[in-house]
Amino acid sequence: MAVSVDDFKKALQLWGSSVAVVTTQSAQFGVQGMTVTAFSSVSANPPQVLVCINEAADTGLGIAESQCFAVNVLKSTQQQLSNQFAGGSSQEQRFADNDWQAGLTGAPILNDTLMTLECTVVDKVLAGTHWLIIGEVQAAVCREGDPLIYFSGAYRQLADN
Ligand SMILES: Cc1cc2nc3c(=O)[nH]c(=O)nc-3n(C[C@H](O)[C@H](O)[C@H](O)COP(=O)(O)O)c2cc1C
Repeated sequence: MAVSVDDFKKALQLWGSSVAVVTTQSAQFGVQGMTVTAFSSVSANPPQVLVCINEAADTGLGIAESQCFAVNVLKSTQQQLSNQFAGGSSQEQRFADNDWQAGLTGAPILNDTLMTLECTVVDKVLAGTHWLIIGEVQAAVCREGDPLIYFSGAYRQLADN
């Protein structure tokens, strides 16, 4: 017998994580991006990562077409950007308000995030309501700063000690 949805959500709130914006660019849908915490490293050799994207999210359609995406890990100062890419504004507005440039794959790299991984899709599995999308990392950019943390339904900062 499966755990109830409420108990599951309550438990998962205790999983603290960084916050990222997954972006893509396709001929049909243009530039798209959405905030995620469901991100994981999968394998170092070959270098692969995983993102979990609700099947109802627009960005998943774009990734299916473009077969590429970028994972932009946010800095502690980018809470507003996170909210914007979580549905706070239209796709057009998200990219008008935040500086970006197209990366190797064409997926948007948001300027001044903590880290960016550019990926090509190698596999995709529908599990429950979410697409598990596995990408092979083609390029990585690391920058200075602290990460934005999401824990127990709220944004947090790293403590110094
Ligand atoms: C902190 C935070 C983490 C989120 N993590 C995920 C996630 O891992 N996967 C997901 O499908 N949606 C996640 N969401 C919700 C999406 O960002 C939101 O539904 C988004 O607006 C969907 O994109 P769309 O507006 O293009 O449909 C998260 C939202 C927030 C605020």
